[in-house]
Amino acid sequence: MTTRVALVTGGIGGLGTEICKHLARSGRRVIAADLASRTERVAEFEREVAAYDGAIRFEPINVADFDACAATVRTVEANYGPIDILVNAAGITRDTTLRKMAPAHWRDVVEINLSGVFNTCRNVVEGMSERGFGRIVNISSVNGQTGQFGQTNYSAAKAGMHGFTMALAREVARKGVTVNSVSPGYCRTAMVAAIPENIRNQIIANIPVGRLGEPSEVARVVDFLCADESGFITGANIPVNGGYFMDF
Ligand code: CAA
Repeated sequence: MTTRVALVTGGIGGLGTEICKHLARSGRRVIAADLASRTERVAEFEREVAAYDGAIRFEPINVADFDACAATVRTVEANYGPIDILVNAAGITRDTTLRKMAPAHWRDVVEINLSGVFNTCRNVVEGMSERGFGRIVNISSVNGQTGQFGQTNYSAAKAGMHGFTMALAREVARKGVTVNSVSPGYCRTAMVAAIPENIRNQIIANIPVGRLGEPSEVARVVDFLCADESGFITGANIPVNGGYFMDF
């Protein structure tokens, strides 16, 4: 069987790390791509994945920069082979109500969370289409489905990711490439830990399952969508939110 090469942006983050581990356990060669400036976290990540015997490697990327994404894709493909799987898990929050939101809060979130998806997909999609195989998974958010107080920027970017996902899914459906999004709810990550405690407790009280999600509970869904056998699922959005938002 071919060893599939997977590029995971935000690969050293809360969800990204767990996604890398799941993909490696399923036999993929995984490249965790993230900001090189996060030196302490990069070192910690490398210790954390040492047990995977080189199946998970770090590469620097800045998803907000189109040319930097092109360069990372070239490096990865030269060193490890064509990218078969792309998981866009890079994301930031700059939570504040709209009346206080500075243009930079808007721009940073949209450029990283949404334009970042364009910047990576644009650089891998042609190769995937030519080879007749690809799996793209975009990590969106329940807050892109419901909107969230203090997140006009983030909710807009996350909802936008899903529109992008559906449109690209149609463009590449006949080329063996699937494009899906996964919309996590509130999970046990640093991003959620940063929410003020009283607000976080109110949110948890409204999750039917009664707790935060585990990153591994998101990662296993991503892994499933990335399988060779998942070729009939495309343009879908899979919620993993403990029942926080139910849609039909
Ligand atoms: N709904 C309605 N009213 C709310 C509210 C809510 N959810 N939250 C706060 N308010 C009210 C407050 O009670 C307060 O009312 P008063 O003015 O009458 O006192 C007012 O709105 C506060 O307004 P401010 O502009 O002063 O807001 P703030 O600076 O106090 O806090 C905030 C705003 C920083 C956005 C804060 O509400 C917050 O952190 N909220 C959580 C946002 C959140 O869930 N982020 C998710 C991060 S994790 C993630 O994004 C991962 C994922 O994908 C799930």
